[in-house]
Amino acid sequence: MTSILGISAFYHDSAAALVIDGKIVSAAQEERFSRIKHDSKYPFNAVNFVLKNSNLKLSQIDHIVFFEKPFLKFERLLETYLAFAPKGFASFCMSMPIWLREKLFQKKFLYEHLQKHDENFKEIEKIHFSEHHFSHAASAFYPSPFEDAVILTLDGVGEWATTTVAHGKKNKINMLKEIYFPHSIGLLYSAFTYYTGFKVNSGEYKVMGLAPYGEPKYKDIILKELVDLKEDGSFRLNMKYFNYATGLTMTNDNFSQLFGQKVRNPEKELLKQFHMDVAASIQSVTEEIVLKLTTSLSKEVGSPNLCMAGGVALNCVANGKILKKNIFKNIWFQPAAGDAGGSLGAALAFWYHELENKRNISTNFKDEMNGAYLGPSFSNDQVEKELNNLGAKFHKKDDEDLISLVASELQNEKTVGWFQGRMEFGPRALGARSIIADPRSDKMQKELNLKVKFRESFRPFAPSILKEDLNQWFELNSDSPYMLLVSDVKKNLQIPMNEEDKKLFGIDKLNIKRSSIPAVTHVDYTARIQTVHKETNLKYYNLIKKFKQNTNCPILVNTSFNVRGEPIVCTITDAFRCFMGTNLDILVCENFILYKENQDSNLLSDYKNQFKLD
Ligand SMILES: [Fe+2]
Repeated sequence: MTSILGISAFYHDSAAALVIDGKIVSAAQEERFSRIKHDSKYPFNAVNFVLKNSNLKLSQIDHIVFFEKPFLKFERLLETYLAFAPKGFASFCMSMPIWLREKLFQKKFLYEHLQKHDENFKEIEKIHFSEHHFSHAASAFYPSPFEDAVILTLDGVGEWATTTVAHGKKNKINMLKEIYFPHSIGLLYSAFTYYTGFKVNSGEYKVMGLAPYGEPKYKDIILKELVDLKEDGSFRLNMKYFNYATGLTMTNDNFSQLFGQKVRNPEKELLKQFHMDVAASIQSVTEEIVLKLTTSLSKEVGSPNLCMAGGVALNCVANGKILKKNIFKNIWFQPAAGDAGGSLGAALAFWYHELENKRNISTNFKDEMNGAYLGPSFSNDQVEKELNNLGAKFHKKDDEDLISLVASELQNEKTVGWFQGRMEFGPRALGARSIIADPRSDKMQKELNLKVKFRESFRPFAPSILKEDLNQWFELNSDSPYMLLVSDVKKNLQIPMNEEDKKLFGIDKLNIKRSSIPAVTHVDYTARIQTVHKETNLKYYNLIKKFKQNTNCPILVNTSFNVRGEPIVCTITDAFRCFMGTNLDILVCENFILYKENQDSNLLSDYKNQFKLD
């Protein structure tokens, strides 16, 4: 037996993954344990979890692989500062001591952290380093159902690369070309995230969600001034407008002058049509870059399959467009496409590429991610014990009764915290740590955003749909198990909207019609889809099936089980606390059901302000 521990850390979203004999056994992000969103510290709790889950001590692990190469990254920082000197002096002075103290000596630094898990761990030579984008590429290709694929990775930046193209064949990945820092789609998108007043590295989703409310009025300016985009999708950014290479901000005064407005201060300034137009413009430019890149790659490499990872691969609107254009026959996205997934990629890269183990590809087009259900789980006994400790009032039901009861409560417009099985790896909740509701309800989007999630009312929700019903409801012909594809809701489902909706979403003005599933239909008539498969999440599948039997609707609203600024819940205690701190009506943990009205009112808490707003 060969066990490989992959680790990503010290940048954003630290995580650990365990691969045994090539099989992905477990993976989790540190933020879920530490309760600090995007936690980038050494993932002590995540490493502990993957070890404990397989009854292994660290000294029994054969190889430990870190997801990037600190020396290469150091070289990039140093050269960037030198190239732009003396401009970046302030940020140089801020980051260099950290680099010299911690990051550059990472092997020793990692070794010291690892020893805290097990004092018998003495073999520093077991620690290896992968390259940042190679880790992304490995996380995209090795778990995919393809023997041969083009691999595209796109993110902010790793060591030097920001965009890479590789060809994956059997157990090997052959890097073909790279685009280097400071030219980066990820950083370009982040610059606009910053400019529109959202937090870099987490607010990118909000920009994407905001885009359909605007018109891409500034697309031409972006392509003329900021991005030199070539026909093959390669690009260079005009650094005259950006500050991220050397400064402490993303954009500079030239950037603000170009668009005629200052950077939005989220505390003082509300979103205006201008910001929505800017969001629409950068989203449209991103889509154009990604479409040009993938179109030229499909011709150049000659494989019918595409795999993608890196933070930009979480842009599910752009992903939907690649699919719609039929550029590749099949596409697979790593669900943990951001840096957390680098831990898994680093471990897989070592097993296949370094140790040259044979790769067996499943013949039925199944991937190796186990539905991304790779995190901790809790037995009914553990749940019962924990709920008793928390002072919760609950009932136990068998599977069938539980599913019938929850389906009918959903029909009564109740909001439900659904906590089942192993926690998801990656940023999306996929029916293991989800808040679920009836998508047919007119009031549900507003209610969930404002009363449960405590977040901006424009944020859309995603539908979970039974795989076999997909074609009847959406213009999508591909599985989307990881909620990484956006597609149009079918037009023949249109119903007239009510007066309240017109006011709330300003839809009247944009002249957009909604569907019979308003809670999961965005203003531009699209939805970010999760297809639910009985092979990977039977209980969730059965719940939706029951809901369909009752209502003819094979869809539920699925949003992550957390509030704004909080990592997705991991344990029963996290789930109960979130339940008691929000207006969720019902909590279901494994086979136990809890109603809010039955709980001790002393256990209710002011939860809304406990987390830093993202
Ligand atoms: Fe990355």
